[in-house]
Amino acid sequence: MEQQPKIALITGGSRGLGRNAALALAHRGNDVIVTYHSQQAQAESLVQEVRALGRKAAAIRLDAGQTASFDAFKDELLTVLRDNWQRENFDYLINNAGFGFYASIAETTEAQFDELMNVHVKGVFFLTQKLMPHLADHGAIINVSSGLTRFTIPGSAAYAAMKGAVEVLTRYMAKELGARGIRVNTIAPGAIATEFGGGRLKSSEEMQAFISGQTALGRTGQADDIGGVIAALCANEMGWVNAQRIEASGGMFL
Ligand SMILES: NC(=O)c1ccc[n+]([C@@H]2O[C@H](COP(=O)([O-])OP(=O)(O)OC[C@H]3O[C@@H](n4cnc5c(N)ncnc54)[C@H](OP(=O)(O)O)[C@@H]3O)[C@@H](O)[C@H]2O)c1
Repeated sequence: MEQQPKIALITGGSRGLGRNAALALAHRGNDVIVTYHSQQAQAESLVQEVRALGRKAAAIRLDAGQTASFDAFKDELLTVLRDNWQRENFDYLINNAGFGFYASIAETTEAQFDELMNVHVKGVFFLTQKLMPHLADHGAIINVSSGLTRFTIPGSAAYAAMKGAVEVLTRYMAKELGARGIRVNTIAPGAIATEFGGGRLKSSEEMQAFISGQTALGRTGQADDIGGVIAALCANEMGWVNAQRIEASGGMFL
């Protein structure tokens, strides 16, 4: 009997790593729902790309920093699930939405800290809480962290601290959801040339040379280096990998 396709919800799927993960999941036979924040057209083009692969897809707007909007988001998600899949639940949650921020500890304002906290920690915590009842048993959650929790680059203190919180949260989610067969892992990408942080790495040859020089595989990361890892972590073959931090950095700062 043919297995029902799994459905992955990817926050921040309009661009960068989330978009790449959506395509990698679709290539593996999964259906996808992506969220976007400002880039609706890019999210819609992703939906078309996934459909061209023969998989179902939808896009919904989410502001990951506005917990007050999560009830309405959940209602819209359930409508999309019912209309397109005749289901009330989905299988994989990829907590990926985020933005780059660079400033020293001395220069970081409280407002900037709060904004980072709202999207990267509070948003991940409460969106997951809100969606947990709708995540299918034996599903998976992938939380996107950063190599910056293991090594330090000046200017990333507040951002990296948020990602550190996400890694701790991963272990607690795994503990609490294990009884339902739900696995929870962290992926920690190294420096990847996306539009992240205003495309700082993508647009600077100097930065690229620095990162390449500190990476065992001798180059900067590309979105293609990450999406497949996220898709693989969701798959059944990874069924015994749980509560882990998987770094995908090409071997940065060894
Ligand atoms: N690139 C790297 O070097 C790197 C390294 C380690 C970890 N990461 C992490 O990987 C994740 C994805 O980064 P990326 O490189 O793909 O960045 P990106 O290319 O800038 O894409 C960011 C994505 O997050 C969405 N987003 C941003 N702010 C949001 C908000 N307030 N609410 C909801 N969605 C929001 C964006 O939506 P719109 O486009 O619709 O606005 C977009 O889809 C982030 O969590 C980031 O911290 C990135």
